[in-house]
Amino acid sequence: MSDQLWWMLGVLAAVAAGLWAWRRWHYRSFWLLIGFPITAISIRASWRKIALGCNLTKKRQRFWFTTVPGLIASTGVVRVRRKWQRIAVDTKPFMWLPLPTRYGWRVTLHTLEGQIPADYADVAERLAHSWGVHAVRVSSDKPGRVRLAATIRDPLVKVDELPPSTELLKVTVGRLETGQPWIIDFRTVPHYINAGATQSGKSNLANALIVGLAPQPVALVGFDLKGGVEFTPYAPRLSALATTRAECGGLLDDLVALMTDRMGMCRMASARNIWQLPPGLRPVPIVVLVDELAELYLMADKSEKDEIAKASTALLRVAQLGRAFGIYLFCCGQRIGSDLGPGVTALRAQCSGRICHRVNDPETATMTLGDLDPAALDSARTIAAETPGVAIVASQDGQWYRARSFYVSEHTAEYAARTYADQAPTWADVMIAQPVDTPDQQTA
Ligand SMILES: Nc1ncnc2c1ncn2[C@@H]1O[C@H](COP(=O)(O)OP(=O)(O)O)[C@@H](O)[C@H]1O
Ligand SMILES: [Mg+2]
Repeated sequence: MSDQLWWMLGVLAAVAAGLWAWRRWHYRSFWLLIGFPITAISIRASWRKIALGCNLTKKRQRFWFTTVPGLIASTGVVRVRRKWQRIAVDTKPFMWLPLPTRYGWRVTLHTLEGQIPADYADVAERLAHSWGVHAVRVSSDKPGRVRLAATIRDPLVKVDELPPSTELLKVTVGRLETGQPWIIDFRTVPHYINAGATQSGKSNLANALIVGLAPQPVALVGFDLKGGVEFTPYAPRLSALATTRAECGGLLDDLVALMTDRMGMCRMASARNIWQLPPGLRPVPIVVLVDELAELYLMADKSEKDEIAKASTALLRVAQLGRAFGIYLFCCGQRIGSDLGPGVTALRAQCSGRICHRVNDPETATMTLGDLDPAALDSARTIAAETPGVAIVASQDGQWYRARSFYVSEHTAEYAARTYADQAPTWADVMIAQPVDTPDQQTA
């Protein structure tokens, strides 16, 4: 008997060790085959209680097998008995089978009458705590349906590299919390605002862009209002670099003139944008990187007023018309607020790509992310200083995501800039609107 007991204990210990090792060495298969089925069963089993706890249920009249007071026994105790009867019961939203995802699971629910996805978004944190997961995100791809996506652990603590994108003007810069790549695609979203406190990872993202765009047939232009300390090392791959406000003014004038040229060219060819031009005629697309945007608008004394107004108008024109003529903006700054003047507010309205790194004050998050879901703002405020590169990204699909850029050191970006220096058209070449061989692509 005791032999048998030892034997069984031995087997149990071996199984436990095996499971531990499996989980440790190949978490994905362990999750799919063992972890997920157990989780799925427990999610389904506990859904009524959790929905009730999160106020997601509705009262409905149903036949229910329930207790009713019966006879009073001679001892005075009320005896209850069970009986089918019509009573008001709490009905939970219908839940489909949960499906495993890379970092957790997702499940679709049918909303009950009068409910909207925001009701679920409001209780996302309660749901996350009830299920013991890192976060629950709510989305809705169809009226009457809500999709809850749970991530078990924060997937952005460590992000591994992805293969670079090979498409023109598309750069894979990091990873979204869903496990999908975080892609900056200038052809879909032409202008970006990249906000964040110092040391939050703004320059890292700019580096990732430089590394991604350097091998492509694209002209890169830098506006570095930190006196050139950020972008000067990348000068070999830049077609133009402005480091003072005066230089910025000149370069912006050039960009506006170039845009006017391209406009004329498109008009002559009856094209609405440069992508509709025949490939042989198509001018080179330009990506303009701006670091410390606020410096462009800051006024020390009145004498600078005109200069600032001119630069601000030119930048706004580039933002308004640039998309069609292949000029794209990527503006980085610590604060991009209305206190900097009306120019910056108008510019912000033109930049549909919004990236908000860790910020010091809630207003900056609000200003960057605009009227996105309040949960996005909360999420932006809770980005930890230990995870630089984490940002809230307003995506092309109208959703927001937490994302983290890949770590790209200055050294890597410098190396890329030097390696692909011969890809950089000179500014004079860009200005005479020489067409370059860009791969033939669909119209933007
Ligand atoms: N995605 C990232 N992963 C890991 N470390 C990062 C990441 N982004 C930034 N860092 C670290 O944070 C530091 C500050 O980033 P940086 O881009 O210079 O911030 P900012 O330009 O906002 O001041 C960098 O030196 C880098 O070591
Ligand atoms: Mg920086």
